[in-house]
Amino acid sequence: MRSLIDIKELSTAEIDELITVSKDIIANPVKYSEKCRGKKLATLFYEPSTRTRLSFEAAMYELGGNVLGFASSDNSSASKGESVADTVRVVSGYADIIAMRHPKEGAPLVASMHSLVPIINAGDGGHNHPTQTLADLLTINREKGRFDNLTVGLCGDLKFGRTVHSLIGAMSRYDNVKFVLISPEELRIPGYIKKEILDRGNIDYVETRSLEDAVPELDILYMTRVQRERFFNEDDYIRLKDTYILNSGKLAKAKKDLSILHPLPRVNEISVEIDNDPRACYFEQTLNGKYIRMALILKLLGVE
Ligand code: CP
Repeated sequence: MRSLIDIKELSTAEIDELITVSKDIIANPVKYSEKCRGKKLATLFYEPSTRTRLSFEAAMYELGGNVLGFASSDNSSASKGESVADTVRVVSGYADIIAMRHPKEGAPLVASMHSLVPIINAGDGGHNHPTQTLADLLTINREKGRFDNLTVGLCGDLKFGRTVHSLIGAMSRYDNVKFVLISPEELRIPGYIKKEILDRGNIDYVETRSLEDAVPELDILYMTRVQRERFFNEDDYIRLKDTYILNSGKLAKAKKDLSILHPLPRVNEISVEIDNDPRACYFEQTLNGKYIRMALILKLLGVE
């Protein structure tokens, strides 16, 4: 039995396989529509979500399976003090696979130690979000046809942005990838990501405050939201929340084939005028999230 807690648990060959299966699902959805008949996915979401939870649920339905779960800890027995360990031990008797989001870093890992079925980390605090990364990778692959020789700009909240941390981990394994880390001083990438991934892997990266200066060299621009829920101090959030707002003016010097990604939800960081720009990929990215989660469910359930 295998869980997915961190993107680094997947080999490069396995990521390639998930991308290949996702593309086949996109091309031949009917072929997959009965693959999980009789199987159940439980979605245990202790923290709010739109895309991740609903795309997991849509993924399981489109594979012919069923879904159960809760969308908030308030309407589960967590509100009475039940531990994650006890909850997954119980739910793993009701479902064949579990997707869990939790505000505490490491909670899905703890869950995987007590579960009788595979656990998928659907986001744990400011730590990791491996299935968002798989959605990001499928989007990059469909847009660019490759992962190597790309300059990737990551902009916004790089400190608490778990999607950024997972994406750096995944893209670092490909050749000649350069990262441009665009953030205010207070929201810089954590030291452990620099030390354990970028420095250890001898990966090319620069840190800057200026989105305008960075834009011309980018192949991918990955915008992120400043996450109010991760701040201890509301004044700091208000001061930093609108540091970056991507609009047409800021794209004036961008490459014609730039791909703009965002894990969403967005607040102000991408102006709606960009939504119709052919370089905007963030809504396709949400659809890709469903397809790659279908591929992942098949893999972890061992369905051929
Ligand atoms: N990208 C993402 O995780 O979105 P949700 O919080 O809506 O699931």
